[in-house]
Amino acid sequence: MTLLVGLDIGTSGARAVAIDLSGKVVAQAASEYPLLTPRPGWTEQHPEDWWRASQEVLARVAAEAGGEVTGLGLTGQMHGSVFLDANSEVIRPALLWNDQRTELQCREITDRVGARRLLEITGNPALTGFQAPKLLWLREEEPEAYARVAHVLLPKDYVRLRLTGEHATDASDASGTLLLDLGRRDWSDEILTTLELPREWMPRVLEGPQVSGRLRPGAAAETGLPEGLQVAAGGGDNAAAAVGTGVIHHGLASSSIGTSGVVFSPSEGSLRDPQGRVHALCHAVPGGYHLMGVTLSAGGSLRWWRDLIDGRLGYDELTALAAQAPPGSEGLIFLPYLTGERTPHLDPSARGAFFGLTSRHSQAHLTRAVMEGVVFSLRACLEAMAAAGVVPDQVRATGGGARNARWRQLQADVYGLPIHRTLWEEGPAYGAALLGGVAAGVFGSVEEACRLVRLQADVAEPDPAVREVYDAYYRAFSSLYPASQRVMHDLSRLAQGNR
Ligand code: XUL
Repeated sequence: MTLLVGLDIGTSGARAVAIDLSGKVVAQAASEYPLLTPRPGWTEQHPEDWWRASQEVLARVAAEAGGEVTGLGLTGQMHGSVFLDANSEVIRPALLWNDQRTELQCREITDRVGARRLLEITGNPALTGFQAPKLLWLREEEPEAYARVAHVLLPKDYVRLRLTGEHATDASDASGTLLLDLGRRDWSDEILTTLELPREWMPRVLEGPQVSGRLRPGAAAETGLPEGLQVAAGGGDNAAAAVGTGVIHHGLASSSIGTSGVVFSPSEGSLRDPQGRVHALCHAVPGGYHLMGVTLSAGGSLRWWRDLIDGRLGYDELTALAAQAPPGSEGLIFLPYLTGERTPHLDPSARGAFFGLTSRHSQAHLTRAVMEGVVFSLRACLEAMAAAGVVPDQVRATGGGARNARWRQLQADVYGLPIHRTLWEEGPAYGAALLGGVAAGVFGSVEEACRLVRLQADVAEPDPAVREVYDAYYRAFSSLYPASQRVMHDLSRLAQGNR
């Protein structure tokens, strides 16, 4: 049996899947690692933990699958920074996509490059989570560590280095650094020079299904995968998940509710949002592009709320509790900005809120309001995308939110669009396995690989009456951030003073 393996370096753990050539998942394994928060708003991980978990899940999948693995594809959390010295040794823990420490450096990048020029070249404004401001932070705050830097990698690309010995990345992940020329799909000399960052530090940029290297003998022995196995460049987790759900053409979108929430839609050419509210990035399909909106605390908001009311509740129990309250939660709105917000506000100091509380409101109302607030915020991503010229007519749900019928129906009612899901809901790792198949020559193209993606028969269709209710609540939701932005910023400053 010929098998393809996908490896995903996620935020909470690594996950590997093995699929056969009909697209069926024949083995899977996951292994968690810690998220370090040395200070509020800071998030870090030890690259060695990624490597240990990767070895473990690859070995488990190789043993369980029991076929001949012919291709491997990599994916992972985007935007992070792994700083390596001249011997490719890790200098300090990696800074992650949800780290908010670089507000000052973002301002500095905007001043030095110019807001318009930055958007023209990279497709994006300077955002705290992206890689470039992390490099400037290291230069300013930890100069001794900075003096040792010889290479900078994204999270999955560090694992690639350990697997193959190659310093390489793919265009989709590279476009989330703020250092890539989006049109040329290569590093921007103008930005690197302006920010005084050496080009030699940056890895080779490949297209998602290109071969980035071959499995080294040591890594083969540790994982049980064949020596010399071809490793595809792969993609950032959202681009790989889009491949895994067949979202590779204009008109389709995927919506993922995990810790963060992401709405992703392929664009025709490298479109940009003139206000930079949605990210303009490369797809993992060669030459392809997409727009993407990100809600930082999506499933993360529900987990926060669950832990407050009863950490033992399962998500099905929690969504059943929410179903006891009516759409709109009887006049209650939740703003999910618990860790600041990206789309559409681009504001690390945005703060969460329950608005409209009355003595009638119960735990059920608050639970429902949390879910509704998250989905309103994903609708704001869809609307920002539409303003930039990308209007999907079908959404495919992925991530934890896809597995729950209430999340899917809520999305259908709030977006007013049918919500599909795929037969094999294995997220980014599945897409990475497909990219691995193209790299190995099993498929002629990403389009051909995506023919393996099958949709489930049950589709969540919008209920017109509920949709009307949500349209009215969405208008109220949209008015709350502009009305309370100043107070949010004051509170965020006050909280810093208290620490
Ligand atoms: C996307 C983003 C997250 C990470 C974590 O811009 O920051 O989705 O990729 O998975």
